[in-house]
Amino acid sequence: MENKKTVVIGVCGGIAVYKVLDIISALKKKNVNIHVIMTEAATEFVSPLSFQTMSQNLVSTDMFVEPKAWEIQHISLAQKADAMLIVPATANFIGKVSNGIADDLLTTTVMATKAPVLVAPAMNTGMYTNSILQENIARLRVHGFKFIDPAEGRLACGDTGIGKLADTEEICDCVMKELYDIKDLKGKKVLVTAGPTIAPIDPVRYITNRSSGKMGYAIAEEAAYRGAEVVLVSGPSHIKPPYGVELINVKTTGDMYNAVTSRFGEADIVIKAAAVADYKPKTYSDAKIKKASSDLAIEFVKDFDILKKLGEMKTNQILVGFAAESHDLLENAQGKLEKKNLDYIVANDITKTGFATDDNKVTILRRDGDPIYLESMAKRNVARELFNIILKNRE
Ligand code: CTP
Repeated sequence: MENKKTVVIGVCGGIAVYKVLDIISALKKKNVNIHVIMTEAATEFVSPLSFQTMSQNLVSTDMFVEPKAWEIQHISLAQKADAMLIVPATANFIGKVSNGIADDLLTTTVMATKAPVLVAPAMNTGMYTNSILQENIARLRVHGFKFIDPAEGRLACGDTGIGKLADTEEICDCVMKELYDIKDLKGKKVLVTAGPTIAPIDPVRYITNRSSGKMGYAIAEEAAYRGAEVVLVSGPSHIKPPYGVELINVKTTGDMYNAVTSRFGEADIVIKAAAVADYKPKTYSDAKIKKASSDLAIEFVKDFDILKKLGEMKTNQILVGFAAESHDLLENAQGKLEKKNLDYIVANDITKTGFATDDNKVTILRRDGDPIYLESMAKRNVARELFNIILKNRE
């Protein structure tokens, strides 16, 4: 992110208060400037000094305190914020704001700000599921407040159920997504595939390839940050799915074929970063293949070429493929662009950039223009450049 952004964090009085210190620390690492407003109840749990130390800014607690500088605090903080995050949000805070009550520094700041407000509730299950609270949440959603829903788990009161503050990582992802400047994919539906597929041999064995899924997941995240509705069809991968993306897990090439062809019609942009297994064993053995005295030969047959099928189905979609090549990079990639009826193909030389790396060096070939040679860069930046090119923001 180019410009340093400011997040005003409103901390309410709930036992999850102590987790906010981790959230601040994670956001500071991402170069975000943090100001904290604590409600009076929050100061009963943790001293403002902890938040002051962590945020490296003075913590505001009281509207009527002697000002440290001449500015009206709730207005200046409301204006400073690129986003506000209320965490943990209590039933009391939600109830007040949804009814237009502004009786302390936090609620007046929320009322005054034009920045997006993210609300991460945490409370006892009974309180969270209470219909009055749910009505208040629904009302705030209508007014543009965004909620980071609590998780299920063991709560501080000893109950088990919904009401646990969302994960620190999830909360930070939501904030970073909100702060992202480019929103040029708003209203667009993006379908991305990632990872390898597998071809099972018997109940215990399969063949696959070395794809980690990193490139596809980076594309899905970039698209979501830019405002798209994203469906990510992923083969087996250990990567955490990006926040706000619909994930469809698949295993075989056939599974991926079914998932992708069924969602293709609704998509505006389709990016096939997956390393699809081209062949599968001619027969799958239901029983485990036992070791014999002779060698083992397995006959393979061709599986679906998903991208080729999409090229045939294509109506208005922008279709993007990947080409991982060990030789004749541009010729092979150009051949795939034409054969599979693509608009773009991202070519990379696997002898130079291996699998599961964080960086990638690619050349992007276009149906209507010269190839674009990119330097080696983080996969997330490759994803950013790719969308810039697709959306013609870059020549
Ligand atoms: N692809 C696909 N289905 C396949 C094979 C590939 O959808 N069965 C897609 C990949 O997701 C990628 C593009 O086609 O976007 C090119 O994949 P690649 O493996 O480089 O090419 P292949 O067509 O499989 O040709 P080859 O393996 O001979 O290079």
